[in-house]
Amino acid sequence: MAFTVFILQLAVRILSLPMYLLNFLGLWGWICKKWFPYFLVRFCVMYNKQMAGKKQELFSNLQDFAGPSGKLSLLEVGCGTGTNFKFYPPGCRVTCVDPNPNFEKFLFKSIAENRHLQFERFLVAAGENMHQVADSSVDVVVCTLVLCSVENQEQMLREVCRVLRPGGAFFFIEHVADKHSTWNYFWQQVVEPAWYLVFDGCYLTRESWKALERASFSKLKLQHIQAPLSWVLVRPHVYGYAVK
Ligand SMILES: C[S@@+](CC[C@H](N)C(=O)[O-])C[C@H]1O[C@@H](n2cnc3c(N)ncnc32)[C@H](O)[C@@H]1O
Repeated sequence: MAFTVFILQLAVRILSLPMYLLNFLGLWGWICKKWFPYFLVRFCVMYNKQMAGKKQELFSNLQDFAGPSGKLSLLEVGCGTGTNFKFYPPGCRVTCVDPNPNFEKFLFKSIAENRHLQFERFLVAAGENMHQVADSSVDVVVCTLVLCSVENQEQMLREVCRVLRPGGAFFFIEHVADKHSTWNYFWQQVVEPAWYLVFDGCYLTRESWKALERASFSKLKLQHIQAPLSWVLVRPHVYGYAVK
């Protein structure tokens, strides 16, 4: 099986040669970072429709983590277009982090459409280094469909723990690798080299739950599901929350 995957991956790489060439010339990253927000804004409409139930269920207990003032201070890492804003409770103070500055105009549109939130700032930064955010300064960190793309999951989760106040929580929804015995995992492996280039550094076969289990949270509530999505390759998901 591993040999078949290797051969099919090779075919995928050959078909993706123009992208590899542009990547080699240092142009692909620029094109992808420009293109990706336009794709994501459309993808999110479909994703939120199909995942609305799961998101509502997960985010319904965000407010439980508000500090003594009752106002929830929330940091969203890899915020993209701000597609999660409508799920946040009224009065929630939101700070956003994303390394791609091209999301800014989409993010500001979402902010304008979500007047129930108190927007604080947009930081152009990677989750692995959020030095602009003080230690123990936020009640909640949210991350959806981001652990598949970050360069260093362990470092990002260390940063999440650093910025969370004691007792604060990290909420996540992530697509992950399917069970190794499935055809879906087979195709995830085959398609991954092209997928990674097209979707701005996203891996299909990450077992992100392992990094979450290793991180230094005091409690982890994590569920594996097959998400009700039309894109079969990204159906395997983990979602839940972890408490610092
Ligand atoms: C698939 S999008 C998801 C966006 C949004 N969270 C959502 O659910 O629609 C992945 C996001 O992660 C961001 N990202 C990639 N690498 C990152 C990193 N190292 N730290 C933080 N965000 C990152 C991308 O710029 C992009 O906005």
